[in-house]
Amino acid sequence: MPQLINILVIGDVIGKAGRRALTEHLPRLIDQHHIDFTVANGENLAAGFGLTEKTADEMFSLGVDVLTNGNHCWDQREFLQLIDKDERFTRPMNFSARAPGQGWTVRETPSGHRIAVLNLIGQVFMGAWDCPFAAASRAMQEIPDDVSAILVDMHAEATSEKMGMSWHLDGQASFVYGTHTHVPTCDEIIHASGTAYQTDIGMTGSYQSIIGMKVESALARMVDKLPRRFEAVERGATIFATKVQVDSATRKAVHIERIRILPG
Ligand SMILES: [Fe+2]
Ligand SMILES: [Fe+2]
Repeated sequence: MPQLINILVIGDVIGKAGRRALTEHLPRLIDQHHIDFTVANGENLAAGFGLTEKTADEMFSLGVDVLTNGNHCWDQREFLQLIDKDERFTRPMNFSARAPGQGWTVRETPSGHRIAVLNLIGQVFMGAWDCPFAAASRAMQEIPDDVSAILVDMHAEATSEKMGMSWHLDGQASFVYGTHTHVPTCDEIIHASGTAYQTDIGMTGSYQSIIGMKVESALARMVDKLPRRFEAVERGATIFATKVQVDSATRKAVHIERIRILPG
C-alpha cells in the first residue's frame, strides 16, 4: 500500500454548470494528479437547491467518493430517504439528532486506505444548529483509529468560525476546509501540527453570476427588496478544487495545492 494518499476536495457544485464542468474535466484531473480519493459538497447539485439521486449518481460515476452537505441538504424531498440508503452521503453532524443520515463516514481507496470524512455546519449567520465544536470533538472519539486520513468539511459563512474549527481540530484532522460561501480563498496552509486548512474551497459553478445564481434576479432582490426566484446559471463553470497529500502513517498533510480550471 503506498504511504502517500492524494486527495481531491471540491467545494459546492452548482447545478448544471458545475456538473457539466466536472463531467468534462474530473476523470482527467483524477488521472493526471494520481488522485486516490475525491470528496465534493453536493448541497447545490440540483439546480442550486439540494441534490437528487440522479445528480448524485452523476457525481459518483465521475469518481466522487463522498458527497458532503450543508444548509440546502433537504431542499429536495427525496433526499430525506435517499441519504440513509448510501454510505457515501454525509450531512452536518450537528444537525438535529432527529435528522436522517450520518455526520461522518469512512470509505476505502482502491489501494486499501480508509478515509474518514466529517461534515459540520457553522452557527454564525447560519441558523440555530447544535454546537459544531462539540460535534467535532465527539466525532474524533467515534471515528475508528485505523483511518489513514480525516477530512473535515466545515460548511459555514463566517471565516473566523471556520478558522476556529481548524484550531479546534489541530493535530487531529488531516484537512479542515470550508464550503458554503461559494468564493475560494487563497489561504491554504499546513500547520506545524500537520493539519491542512483552507477557509473556502470555492464553488464549481459559473463566476459570471452571484454565487452561482443568475445576476438579474439575484441583483434585483438586493436592489428593490422584492421577492424573486433564484435561478442557477447553467453554463460556463470554473472548477475550483484543492489537492492535499496525506502521509497515511501519521495522518498529517504534507502538501496542499489549489487547482483552477477555467471554462473552455
Ligand atoms: Fe452552497
Ligand atoms: Fe450552503
